[in-house]
Amino acid sequence: MSKVKTAVKIGALTMKNPVTTASGTFGSGLEMREYVDLRKLGAITVKGTTLEPRSGNLLPRCTETPSGTLNSIGLENPGVDVFVADILPQVAAYETPIIVNIAGSEITEYGRLAEILEKEAAVSALEANVSCPNVKSGGMALGTDPDLVYQVTKLVKEHSSKPVIVKLSPNVTDIVSIAKAAAEGGADGLNLINSVLGLAIDMEKKRPALGNIVGGLSGPAIKPIALRMVYQTAQAVEIPIIGLGGIVSWQDAVEFLMAGATAVGIGTGNFLDPATTMKVVDGIEQYLIDNGYDDVQDIIGIAWKNQRDGKDG
Ligand SMILES: Cc1cc2nc3c(=O)[nH]c(=O)nc-3n(C[C@H](O)[C@H](O)[C@H](O)COP(=O)(O)O)c2cc1C
Repeated sequence: MSKVKTAVKIGALTMKNPVTTASGTFGSGLEMREYVDLRKLGAITVKGTTLEPRSGNLLPRCTETPSGTLNSIGLENPGVDVFVADILPQVAAYETPIIVNIAGSEITEYGRLAEILEKEAAVSALEANVSCPNVKSGGMALGTDPDLVYQVTKLVKEHSSKPVIVKLSPNVTDIVSIAKAAAEGGADGLNLINSVLGLAIDMEKKRPALGNIVGGLSGPAIKPIALRMVYQTAQAVEIPIIGLGGIVSWQDAVEFLMAGATAVGIGTGNFLDPATTMKVVDGIEQYLIDNGYDDVQDIIGIAWKNQRDGKDG
């Protein structure tokens, strides 16, 4: 039992603490169970699920950069039917809320996925990924157009009674207009940010390092971009934000909460240290205790509120 109040809400989803995983960096959770107490997480956000199985992009799909990873996985996954039949029941056994990340090539596929997952009591919330930088259709092409973001969100909401989170792309000039479109479409929450479009060159081969040519940059390098987007968006919409992008420590997570995120996601941080999520859960709680807060709500958005009111500390 936590000594301070750490619970947060994303629509009707209650998380006992603000920490979840970034889709695609934690498998279904089962792959991490040896390293992580899955019951201790606020929620598990699983790898992106599509209607049909996908084998992903050409190899190589990952390359290191000085302060992060460039990946072009291409939403490799076994498809929603296998997920529901084989994977979901095993993850559900841990009794931690499960957020299912969904993606489609066509807008209609998001509706169909929502319909299929609606029947699954073990699914606590849906996260519509309209921001994958590594797929030929759907993905980022949707997430950079406010009208399409509105349409996808509305469609998923029409087919689901579960909380709907929309995961946005940082590869836009005006994140607030996209966030507002998702909110108008009925989103219960936002996830900010997906990876940042990038490129790496293989000097030996004298060509792009990734099979897909371009990839998504994640890890500490993108933290300032993510923080900026959370800070701007939190002031512009009423719905809660799951902030992520480069969080590798509890201090990073506290900064995201202060910027206006209601919850945080850990992605590339899991690759650096598989126990990162656990350290972040404990670190946030300890920070609240050490600083005399009795509820995590007290620090959510404190940075932009202090800035607005001309206050420090
Ligand atoms: C290997 C890898 C796979 C990913 N797969 C997905 C995915 O399936 N769906 C999705 O919405 N985001 C996916 N992402 C993006 C992450 O969820 C996250 O938004 C991004 O990596 C930024 O967070 P980070 O800097 O903490 O990693 C993936 C990222 C990585 C590195």
